[in-house]
Amino acid sequence: MEKPIKITETILRDAQQSLIATRMSTEEMLPIIDKMDQVGYHAVECWGGATFDACLRFLKEDPWERLRKFREGFKQTKLQMLFRGQNILGYRPYADDVVEYFVQKSVANGIDIIRIFDCLNDLRNLQTAVTAAGKEKAHAQVALSYTLGDAYTLDYWKDIAKRIEDMGADSICIKDMAGLLLPYQASKLVSALKETVDLPIEIHTHYTSGVASMTYLKAVEAGADIIDTAISPFAMGTSQPATEVMVETLKGTPYDTGLDQEILSEIADYFRPIRDHALETGLLNPKNMGVDIKTLLYQVPGGMLSNLTSQLNEQGAEDKLYDVLKEVPRVRKDLGEPPLVTPSSQIVGTQSVLNVLMGERYKIASKETKDMLLGKYGATVKPMNEEVKEKVIGNEQPITCRPADLLKPELDKLKSEMEIWSEQEEDVLSYALFPQVAMDYFKYRAAQEDGIDPKLGDKENGTYPV
Ligand code: CO
Repeated sequence: MEKPIKITETILRDAQQSLIATRMSTEEMLPIIDKMDQVGYHAVECWGGATFDACLRFLKEDPWERLRKFREGFKQTKLQMLFRGQNILGYRPYADDVVEYFVQKSVANGIDIIRIFDCLNDLRNLQTAVTAAGKEKAHAQVALSYTLGDAYTLDYWKDIAKRIEDMGADSICIKDMAGLLLPYQASKLVSALKETVDLPIEIHTHYTSGVASMTYLKAVEAGADIIDTAISPFAMGTSQPATEVMVETLKGTPYDTGLDQEILSEIADYFRPIRDHALETGLLNPKNMGVDIKTLLYQVPGGMLSNLTSQLNEQGAEDKLYDVLKEVPRVRKDLGEPPLVTPSSQIVGTQSVLNVLMGERYKIASKETKDMLLGKYGATVKPMNEEVKEKVIGNEQPITCRPADLLKPELDKLKSEMEIWSEQEEDVLSYALFPQVAMDYFKYRAAQEDGIDPKLGDKENGTYPV
């Protein structure tokens, strides 16, 4: 039976985020979009938390304008974004009115497929976004944050997949941010999900631990429908398997993608000099391009590993890395064994560093650790450590409801805070997600429009250097 595998290309989002810290500018992307539109990808992933943040913070670009330009260029290809459930693209839970408005504006500006995940796999944190996507006639894909641990059995994944189908999602993604999904496990997992639900199954992994293309192959044989790949110059290492390699591997089999290698090679030719330039400037660290076996041994995502290293460097405590890596699984267990993905990866990582540096566990707890113990991020699959709870939150009562049920609508308040800088309806959403960064960008934009050098500012007219 013929079963062509569909390809989602990640170069514009995850691949460049994983390899060059999301620093690719819109200007660098636009010239190749017309060619990419001819490939026949299932979708192009092009928008998400880090791309949004980096646009405003480092590139001084409006992320909404970028999206509109993509939409203009991609005439036949679906555009996909990554969405952190109730956290949208940010780091804290938002009230439903902000989530709904963000979904509405994302679709209005060009997004077709919204991949929605929650760092705890607490489906209550996804419902508002899934419902909003349906209302806007967008494709709502729910991503399972893949992780390992006692609680994460095949039955756990089957049960959650069933509930995702029941909540009205259009497809399911197995999101393996750390590259932990091994080939034979992928085979079992995909088969189990296929037995349980009728939804298309997409696989997303990273090459960090060196197994990714084998994982895709086994997943495809087990019935996966879509795989996420990156064009070869920005493939492998901490990014995804190479598009051309998977296309060639499946050629002439029942899984033939039908994609044209000629067009793909022209796209690769375009991105290769950008990769080479990034290597020259140091933006692309060759260390990110090989196999990092620590991710398999310590089950820590690549991004989290580099964060831990830089946190320790700042404290002059580089030599503590292995202590921290041993502390990570302990803290994770204390907090109910969550998957490690934004923001839980930061919470567990930072707390592990604190525990090691202070020489006493939970002598100091971060605000986020407290909130996690208080249930403010949602429910974890395993119970949390009662002793740790008592030490950190004392008599405070954790919540058990959906965290966003306690949040009042906040859109109007946000609007009033940034009104004078607003130039488009979407600006309030940029501000909601990254208040300080967005405000700096608004000031930069206003200065530029007034013909003032944004770096120098103009104090008389009330604009400031940014
Ligand atoms: Co990813």
